[in-house]
Amino acid sequence: MAKSGRKASFASLGKHKKRLEEQPMRVQFAIDPNRFKRYSATGAGILLDYSKNRIDEEVMASLFDLARAAGVEERRDQMCEGEHINITEDRAVMHMALRYQGEHPVPVDGQDVMPEIRAVLAAIKAYTDAVRNGEIRGHGGEQITDVVNIGIGGSDLGPSMVTLALAPYTRPDLRAHYVSNVDGAHIHDTLKGLDPKKTLFIVASKTFTTDETMTNANSARAWIADALGEEAVPNHFAAVSTNIPACAKFGIREDRIFGFWDWVGGRYSVWSAIGLPIALAVGYDNFAAFLKGADAMDRHFLSTPLENNLPVIMAVLGVWYRNVWGFSTHAVLPYDQRLSRFAAYLQQQDMESNGKSVTLAGKPVGWSTGPIVWGEPGTNGQHAFYQLIHQGTDVIPADFLIAAKPHEHLPPHHDKLVANVLAQSEALMLGKTEEEVVEELKAQGLSKARIKELTPHKVFPGNRPSNTLFYEQLTPETLGSLVALYEHKVFTQGVIWNVNSYDQWGVELGKQLAKALLPKVAGEQSGEGHDSSTQGLLAYYLANKG
Ligand code: F6P
Repeated sequence: MAKSGRKASFASLGKHKKRLEEQPMRVQFAIDPNRFKRYSATGAGILLDYSKNRIDEEVMASLFDLARAAGVEERRDQMCEGEHINITEDRAVMHMALRYQGEHPVPVDGQDVMPEIRAVLAAIKAYTDAVRNGEIRGHGGEQITDVVNIGIGGSDLGPSMVTLALAPYTRPDLRAHYVSNVDGAHIHDTLKGLDPKKTLFIVASKTFTTDETMTNANSARAWIADALGEEAVPNHFAAVSTNIPACAKFGIREDRIFGFWDWVGGRYSVWSAIGLPIALAVGYDNFAAFLKGADAMDRHFLSTPLENNLPVIMAVLGVWYRNVWGFSTHAVLPYDQRLSRFAAYLQQQDMESNGKSVTLAGKPVGWSTGPIVWGEPGTNGQHAFYQLIHQGTDVIPADFLIAAKPHEHLPPHHDKLVANVLAQSEALMLGKTEEEVVEELKAQGLSKARIKELTPHKVFPGNRPSNTLFYEQLTPETLGSLVALYEHKVFTQGVIWNVNSYDQWGVELGKQLAKALLPKVAGEQSGEGHDSSTQGLLAYYLANKG
């Protein structure tokens, strides 16, 4: 689809916007009792209710036409066939192979990658079983009680989000910790209270060159060597990387290096050996179930017509709001405390993927691309930022996530949680009109003058869009399906926006400048040549660093 075609599509969708501005959702719900049935779909154990959106059948039909015209189905096939759709890095995008449960070969560059994937999975199983059952111990023979994963970005956010989400499957005698920030406070506070004799480090880095990770890894190595001697290091470290020689150079035993491949993007790597700390924390079988859940969503994405395809529906709704209504942020609001890192995880998945402003051909895009993704679990968020979502000047489309079954038997907690999530999407959709506010205040016996004064503050505009994702329980399988759902949503939007969702050049400039600034910050070189702001800040630092 040519650039002009996309622009024309976005423009023609504008006529639908005008129509829907005249017909808010509360009116549509009133006239159509089948709205939920019409605008809900299921796949891989997830129910998506998207009826509380500013849509009608014409809008959805036009959005699916746009997805088809943009080539979503063709690009999806190209991705599956191992084509180098990551054109700027000349790489295939094959994270789906990591969780593939079928028997067919999956070729990448002419070679079936499944035997290698299965070999790494077998190695993960053998190693994690052995650590969990005490066959593999620390240098002095103690059982491992604490695992510290050192990684950042995709080598941290996925495993840390998943470990927290699957807390019911963890063991109290084997704790997982995650160190990512180069801020020494992170590793310092993590190691405080840990026993080196019982601590295992995983150095996780696709490239094994990331400065934050290598700095933390060196500090961890020194911590072990100082406490237990240099010879203890091999028994307290494992590594996950595509750069096997660099892991060996760091001193990791060959049988404790777990590889993956350049066709797995960092933010899509939780399914690879980067999931090693997950398997340690929840056991290999639960990690395998997480992969299985993702594969179930892959099958749904690959085989379901766009009209009933969960990731595609969510993607086109996102495009509708971003490109036609001009909404610039998207909130992810899990009513699931254990998903409290889910939005942070999705920030990398979505914003590093689609935070782009040139097309695949390197030309400026003529439309907005990835939104700002953010969120916190409910009900906490209700007492913090929901005010703005309900009555602020910006409209923020939101996803609510909720399980039907909690892991705890603690009535009435879960009923209350569910009542709240349903109330929020209902309130956002319905709003409260001036007439309703006046009636309510009259019933409270307020004076006419006070009613007049208060009414504008108490009106809710409503017509604020949301999706609700309902699932039976937050099991490893369901979590796998959920994560894969968002991955395919991001993919679909990337195709519609015609950007490369699989590179991340935007992170490079900061890295280059930090490298150049380090000797100046260390006081070894002068700050001359930098802008006056940077020089002024450097001077302040050097005068105050103590
Ligand atoms: O700088 C961004 C990034 O490259 C992410 O894409 C990646 O997930 C993260 O850094 C960590 O990279 P690595 O796994 O190579 O250490």
